[in-house]
Amino acid sequence: MIDQFREISDYCRLEIPEAQRRPIAIVGAGGIVDGAHLPAYALAGLSVVGITDVDLDRARAVAERHGIPRVYGSLEELLADADVEVVDIAVPASEQPAIFRAAIAAGKHILAQKPFAVSPEIAKELADLAEEAGLVAGVNQQLRFDEGIAAAHRMVQLGWIGEVTSFSLTVNIATQWELWEWARQLERLEIMVHSIHYHDIVRWFLGEPTSVYAMAGRTPGQFPIGETRTVSSYRFADATAVVHVNHVNRGGDNSAEFRIDGVAGAIRGTLGLLYDYPDGRTDTLEVFSSSLPTDGWVPYPVTQRWFPHAFIGTMGSVLDAIATGSTPRSSARDNVKTVELVEALYRSMDTNQVVRLE
Ligand SMILES: NC(=O)c1ccc[n+]([C@@H]2O[C@H](COP(=O)([O-])OP(=O)(O)OC[C@H]3O[C@@H](n4cnc5c(N)ncnc54)[C@H](O)[C@@H]3O)[C@@H](O)[C@H]2O)c1
Repeated sequence: MIDQFREISDYCRLEIPEAQRRPIAIVGAGGIVDGAHLPAYALAGLSVVGITDVDLDRARAVAERHGIPRVYGSLEELLADADVEVVDIAVPASEQPAIFRAAIAAGKHILAQKPFAVSPEIAKELADLAEEAGLVAGVNQQLRFDEGIAAAHRMVQLGWIGEVTSFSLTVNIATQWELWEWARQLERLEIMVHSIHYHDIVRWFLGEPTSVYAMAGRTPGQFPIGETRTVSSYRFADATAVVHVNHVNRGGDNSAEFRIDGVAGAIRGTLGLLYDYPDGRTDTLEVFSSSLPTDGWVPYPVTQRWFPHAFIGTMGSVLDAIATGSTPRSSARDNVKTVELVEALYRSMDTNQVVRLE
């Protein structure tokens, strides 16, 4: 198995060749930049030349903590810096389109945080803008680079469990929504801000569903006004998927489990990050394959974490696209489909109807 696992770990490796490293500037000095983007970029040897935020004190504090040489007084000042080649946007979704448009107009490549946009129309407009300008735009759906998920994806690609017939993911956690004041008033919360990662992953494994059905709930005493638990189900031509997420777990037993079943085996694992957010632990991953074959369930040794390591992957794929003309694993164009899927799930919730996507 060790020899076979080498092909998996090669696929999951998160290294950015020196020749591909370009100067990056960051818009937004919030928790995710401080706790995940910048630690990841330091591990990968990337050069962050400057940062800005509407809260300049916050930008200064983050710059000092991570040794960033320049704090720009405004977005305009950042975009006028000819040294900057990539703009890394990490602000609330409502603020993102205007920054994205300005960065494209200034000729910068972009990595945009998720949610890329809150409507398919805006997502499409932004993806079109980047393509027309000949610039690379990626979306920070970095769960596609989390080692447990990426390894599972490679095992599926290599045919270890045969054609996938079922994907399920169940998350039961106590999320401190108080950390994000801007999230308190969001009517579309859980899927838009959190589970969009899982829905993006379902697409990555199974492609586009033919129809979806979703339900949402709230819990008495919860901090935000939006939904904090969702159940989403998908129908594909030859497969089904379900994503069930609860953010108000008052039992103290956080869990985050996924399972992928195929005609020749199955993969099961856990998302370590969610057992103790934002520190977490490495994922677990096991595979049972009748085609390799394995001798029962075999553990794959995950060594890297969703936070911060996977953030090397999303920026790395944007840099690789700039250098080689490849398509980022999570491109803006691809993410338009994820935003469309999110919209379909909310439409299903609002109407209590199955939504067809064919
Ligand atoms: N796994 C992930 O990829 C992940 C995890 C957490 C958050 N996020 C996303 O990242 C974004 C930021 O989240 P966060 O947790 O850092 O939030 P945060 O509230 O900690 O920080 C947001 C920062 O953006 C700044 N800001 C707001 N509007 C701005 C503007 N117009 N120009 C410049 N700065 C502006 C705020 O002052 C604040 O410092 C959100 O879109 C969120 O959904 C992604």
